[in-house]
Amino acid sequence: MTELTDITGSADLPGPVAFPQDRTCPYHPPTGYEPLRDGRPLSRVTLYDGREVWLVTAQTTARALLSDPRLSTDRRHSGFPVPTPRFEAGRDRRIALLGMDDPEHHRQRRMLIPSFTVKRAAALRPWIQRIVDGLLDAMTEQGPPADLVSAFALPVPSMVICGLLGVPYADHEFFEEQSRRLLRGPTAADAQEARDRLEEYLDGLIEAKAKEAGPGDGILDDLVHHRLRDGELERADLVSLALILLVAGHETTANMISLGTYTLLQHPGRLAELRADPALLPAVVEELLRMLSIAEGLQRVALADIEIAGATIRAGEGVLFATSVINRDTAVYDGPDGVDFHRPDRHHVAFGFGIHQCLGQNLARAELEIALGALFTRLPGLRLAAPAEDIPFKPGDTIQGMLELPVTW
Ligand code: HEM
Repeated sequence: MTELTDITGSADLPGPVAFPQDRTCPYHPPTGYEPLRDGRPLSRVTLYDGREVWLVTAQTTARALLSDPRLSTDRRHSGFPVPTPRFEAGRDRRIALLGMDDPEHHRQRRMLIPSFTVKRAAALRPWIQRIVDGLLDAMTEQGPPADLVSAFALPVPSMVICGLLGVPYADHEFFEEQSRRLLRGPTAADAQEARDRLEEYLDGLIEAKAKEAGPGDGILDDLVHHRLRDGELERADLVSLALILLVAGHETTANMISLGTYTLLQHPGRLAELRADPALLPAVVEELLRMLSIAEGLQRVALADIEIAGATIRAGEGVLFATSVINRDTAVYDGPDGVDFHRPDRHHVAFGFGIHQCLGQNLARAELEIALGALFTRLPGLRLAAPAEDIPFKPGDTIQGMLELPVTW
């Protein structure tokens, strides 16, 4: 039984809202979440299968809970919240890093941290710039018009993560398609098949790397020739880790580039401000991360009773985090629905918080700054090539972003 106090459960409050829902505008939270935006820190919501779980919507509560070791990311737990049927795929498996709690999680994360520091991301900038410039060259040679998703937003992070991991970019059509099925497949069976195919592919790649006399310069080469060989990592964990890095490394950033571009084009005043002062780029990226909150519905399960914000989350109950609502908390942000590049740092949770806070955030920020900076500098006349309301975007139960983005210049 869940206990509710006056904060979360007074009799006159509406019944549980359904979660997740589709956005009506790709850069605003779904209008169906309006009842959740009344200042309550957490609410009960209903999932697709009728189960009720907690949904966290206030920033202070979100940061407290995301750093609370009594919440677990182990999806094998029967109470782990499953927001869409697809998430049933692989629930019986041990998922590396993101699906592990400390101390195991820390042991794996420690191996990867040196590859994702601020310093490392800064050192990669000239290389990322060359990738971005090459893709813009190709796009401008062939267009206008162009689909920005396939010509630019997807290949930038895809090439970057391939280069970093040591995965051949020649295989990109295969792994992009499987990632798409994993993140957006219609059924658990489809997502499961995509996961199996990705694991099989990465297992083969690891096998080939292990046979080489010495390591190449990718992160996977290093893990194979050191951590695997020394027995610090099991083969299955390495495959699972490679899958997370490959999928998280390209899908998220691709969506930020496409949706970020769309959002800026829909706010010409703000775009003019950026064009007049390119030094604003880091602030622009931060504001877009907050506004767009593309990674919606972070998932946890309670391992013990937790008293918070006047409510008791019982051991075994599922907890979701609505990043799109948390990042527009009116207790933290003035006019949260507007784009403002001059906000003081308010610690958005677009990259999560606590032990699982995005490992790739420094890399993602570098990619976004370089990609958006180059795009708007080189193409001053960039504009949508179709009515904004006709351009399709992704459904609410997956990472948010544009399905395609027809542009001209
Ligand atoms: C703008 C792009 C990105 C966004 C919005 C994003 C968002 C997130 C979020 C919200 C989490 C936390 C999930 C949770 O707590 O349940 C996360 C974790 C993670 N992200 Fe990202 N991410 C992005 C780019 C990247 C990139 C480029 C990589 C490259 C490797 C990456 C790798 C990871 C990994 C490995 C984790 C799990 C970390 C852990 O469990 O310790 N992400 N990301």
